Amino acid sequence: MSPTATASLVLHPAFTVAPVNRRTFGSFVEHMGRCVYTGIFEPGHPSADEDGFRTDVLDLVRELGVTAVRYPGGNFVSGYRWEDGVGPVEQRPRRLDLAWHSVETNRFGLDEFMRWAARADVEPVLAVNLGTRGVQEAVDLLEYTTVAGGTALSELRRSHGAEQPYPVRAWCLGNEMDGPWQTGHKTAHEYGRLAAETARAMRMVDPGLTLVACGSSNRSMPTFGAWEATVLEHAYELVDQISAHAYYQQVGDDLGSHLAAALDMDAFVDAVVATADGVRAVGRHAKRITIAFDEWNVWYQDRFDEQGPPTEWVEAPRLIEDTYDVADAVVVGNLLISLLRHSDRVASACQAQLVNVIGMIRSEPGGPAWRQTIFHPFAQAAALARGEVLRVQVRSPTYETALHGDAPVVDAVATHDAEAGELVVFAVSRSTTEPVTLDVDLRAFGDVRLTAATVLADDDVRAVNTEREPDRVVPRPHDGAVLDGGRLALRMPPVSWNVVRVAVPRS
Ligand code: AHR
Repeated sequence: MSPTATASLVLHPAFTVAPVNRRTFGSFVEHMGRCVYTGIFEPGHPSADEDGFRTDVLDLVRELGVTAVRYPGGNFVSGYRWEDGVGPVEQRPRRLDLAWHSVETNRFGLDEFMRWAARADVEPVLAVNLGTRGVQEAVDLLEYTTVAGGTALSELRRSHGAEQPYPVRAWCLGNEMDGPWQTGHKTAHEYGRLAAETARAMRMVDPGLTLVACGSSNRSMPTFGAWEATVLEHAYELVDQISAHAYYQQVGDDLGSHLAAALDMDAFVDAVVATADGVRAVGRHAKRITIAFDEWNVWYQDRFDEQGPPTEWVEAPRLIEDTYDVADAVVVGNLLISLLRHSDRVASACQAQLVNVIGMIRSEPGGPAWRQTIFHPFAQAAALARGEVLRVQVRSPTYETALHGDAPVVDAVATHDAEAGELVVFAVSRSTTEPVTLDVDLRAFGDVRLTAATVLADDDVRAVNTEREPDRVVPRPHDGAVLDGGRLALRMPPVSWNVVRVAVPRS
């Protein structure tokens, strides 16, 4: 690539993909490691409120702009008895959590999560256990959670202090049921039937629920594609969404491939859409299935595989507490770009996970909480992506990667909020050596004005945020953004996440 490399794109208010789905900015709280215990919940912490919720973490969750939180797993849910986590705390059982070889104290459960979600101002999304349990337990949980009163389980909830039903509209029918590591792992036929019958029964309680069937655990599962097709053949008319999970990591010193991870996410979404639409055509179905990308992030899984799960049965062990650097933040920003550009078919997404466990937020027991590098692109996208996602075709030089073939050096998406009169461009540079300029033609919008621009980059792409230096990596004012005559020239430093806000005429 030459030092003066240029990429370009043309934006037009009439060329749109779909409205921004607010559920794109979801996250995930699992009973795993320290996500719940000493993450969001730590009675005795100096910042804890009367429920034991860490208010320093709550403040960061609100700042992050997370819109929805999936709970309680993850692999954990496939062995979970929800009844263990309600009612008087001193009567709750201690259990073995087989998924993470941990002891679950059940001090935090459904009622605590619902109170926490209300305080965090996030929509609660629940997963039911279809590993070791089935239709009856799912319907029982639905009754406990959403029926106003007058039945055994709704009255049980009220006796636990929750007079009103909880506002849970979206439900995941199990978790990663294709994975042999999953407690109660199933074949596609077994799971497809169970998901269909669970969905049918849940809809008898409330036909308007949003129900998510499990897709593949990742795109490299040997059954990927066939799994989705079989599950949807059983459950197409009974569910709304199929899930997708993807975790990325840098392998060795191959930064170029890592930075291009969003190409894999693009291909993943396209493949699931094609599979779902294939089932639609064969089954003569009218509606379209959308995707719940309900686990995604950078995760250094190799490190976990080396370390392995705990060998002792312990409470809230330190598990997969990855520390993220600048490059990881750029990848996370790029994954958000991918999710946004698929807003016509990706109806919801959950970054995994919220705190400590591959978390955007880190917290220490009895100590502080801080923002990881990946916190920042998420917070900016959640705050600023509003209105319609615009159709973006980036013309960019490419570079060769070992994992994803030729990759464009620049990737971008843009959103347009006509009512507020704001257009926002989110762009990454995957160049590892030279700056690259992105030219954006905005003339179709009329009179436009640059209002703000930030960049997250660093001379050291390995720079991280730590307890001692929590704000080492933050978005800073951009000195490379110029808007003139309806054309934006954005000079992006290597390995960078760039956000440009432009005032446009309201309509
Ligand atoms: O997020 C960590 C784990 O990754 C989840 O429990 C599981 O669903 C996935 O494999």
